[in-house]
Amino acid sequence: MGINLLTKRIHPRKGRSQKELPVNLRNRSSVPPSFDSVNRMRIVEIVEAKKENFTVKTFTFIDKLCGKAEPGQFVMVWIPGVDEIPMSLSAITSEGLSSITVNEVGEASRALNQKEKGDTIGIRGPFGNGFVPAGGNVMIVGGGTGLAPLMPLTEKLAKTADKITVMSGAKCQDNLLFLDRIDNILSEVNSETVFTTEDGSYGIECLVVDQAEQKMKKEKFDMIYTCGPEQMMYNMFLLAEQYKVPLQASLERIMRCAIGLCGSCQIGKLRVCKDGPVLNSEQLRSVKEEFGKFQLDLTGKRIKL
Ligand SMILES: Cc1cc2nc3c(=O)[nH]c(=O)nc-3n(C[C@H](O)[C@H](O)[C@H](O)COP(=O)(O)OP(=O)(O)OC[C@H]3O[C@@H](n4cnc5c(N)ncnc54)[C@H](O)[C@@H]3O)c2cc1C
Ligand code: FES
Repeated sequence: MGINLLTKRIHPRKGRSQKELPVNLRNRSSVPPSFDSVNRMRIVEIVEAKKENFTVKTFTFIDKLCGKAEPGQFVMVWIPGVDEIPMSLSAITSEGLSSITVNEVGEASRALNQKEKGDTIGIRGPFGNGFVPAGGNVMIVGGGTGLAPLMPLTEKLAKTADKITVMSGAKCQDNLLFLDRIDNILSEVNSETVFTTEDGSYGIECLVVDQAEQKMKKEKFDMIYTCGPEQMMYNMFLLAEQYKVPLQASLERIMRCAIGLCGSCQIGKLRVCKDGPVLNSEQLRSVKEEFGKFQLDLTGKRIKL
C-alpha cells in the first residue's frame, strides 16, 4: 500500500472547517503532536550505525517526535525502494536522538541493515500505546531482539521502581543484546540481572521463562514487562496469571497503515498498532484464543504462529 496515498486519504481536506474534523485530525500546536504530524513521513539521516552481532544492527537518527515517544511505541521505517516495516524504538532521548535495533529476517530488514552512517531512511510515528511504568518490584523479561523496546523502559523504571529484575534470554551468547547498557542503567539501582542461553554459552543454560518462574516462586512482583518471541510472551502471560501478577507484553503483527485503518494487525477485537503494541493482562485475556497461536499473514489469512 502506498504510504503517500494513505497519508493523502486521511489528510484534512482544504476548506473543511477544523470543527468538522475528528479531534485527532485537527491542527493543534500544543504537545502531544497532532496525529497528522506523527503520521507524516520524515526523511532522517543515520548518525550512527552500530553492529550488535551477526544479524542485528542499531541505527541512531535525530527526530523531534521520536524524542517525545514513550518506551514501547514504534515507528514505521521506510527503506526507499524496498518496503516499510515496523520497528520499536530501542533508545529515546529528550535531545531527539533515537534508535532502532534491527534483526535481519527478510528482504526489508536485510536492506535496512545494509545502511550505514550518512544514509537516509523514512520515519513515521511514534505510534501505538507503550509500556505504563509501575513502581514497586518489577520484572523485565526479554527474548533476543525483544529486548529493544525494553531498554528505554528500563531507563525510565530506574527512576521509579523499588527494585528491577532484568531477565534476558537468547539462543546463544552472541544473540544477547545490550549487556553493557543494562549494566550502566542498573549500576546505581536496586536490581538483579539474569542472563540465560539455550546452548549454555553465557549465563544459565535454560529458557528465560524457566528462570523467571524460579524468581516468581521466591519473590512477589508488582508488574512484569515482556517482549520477545510470542510463545515466550505467552508462557510469561500464563505464569503471570498463575502467580497473579499484572503483565504488559509488546506484540508483533503484520503492519501496514500503523494507524488502525487496514486491519492487518488484528488480534481478536484489538488492533495491535492502535490498541497495542503493548497489551496488558486484561487485553491479553480478551484475545487468548489467538495470542501465542495465530496471526494474519500478508494476505490477511489466519495462520498458525
Ligand atoms: C510493533 C512492532 C515492533 C517491532 N520491533 C522490532 C524491532 O525492534 N526489531 C526488529 O528486528 N524487528 C521488529 N519488529 C519485527 C519487524 O517489523 C519484522 O521482522 C519485519 O517487518 C520483517 O520484514 P522483512 O521484509 O525483513 O521480512 P519478511 O520477509 O517480510 O518476513 C519475515 C518474517 O517477519 C514477519 N513480518 C513481515 N512483515 C512484517 C510486518 N510488517 N510486521 C510484523 N512482522 C512482519 C513475517 O511474518 C515473517 O515471519 C517489530 C514488529 C512490530 C509489529
Ligand atoms: S496496521 Fe493497519 S490497522 Fe494496524
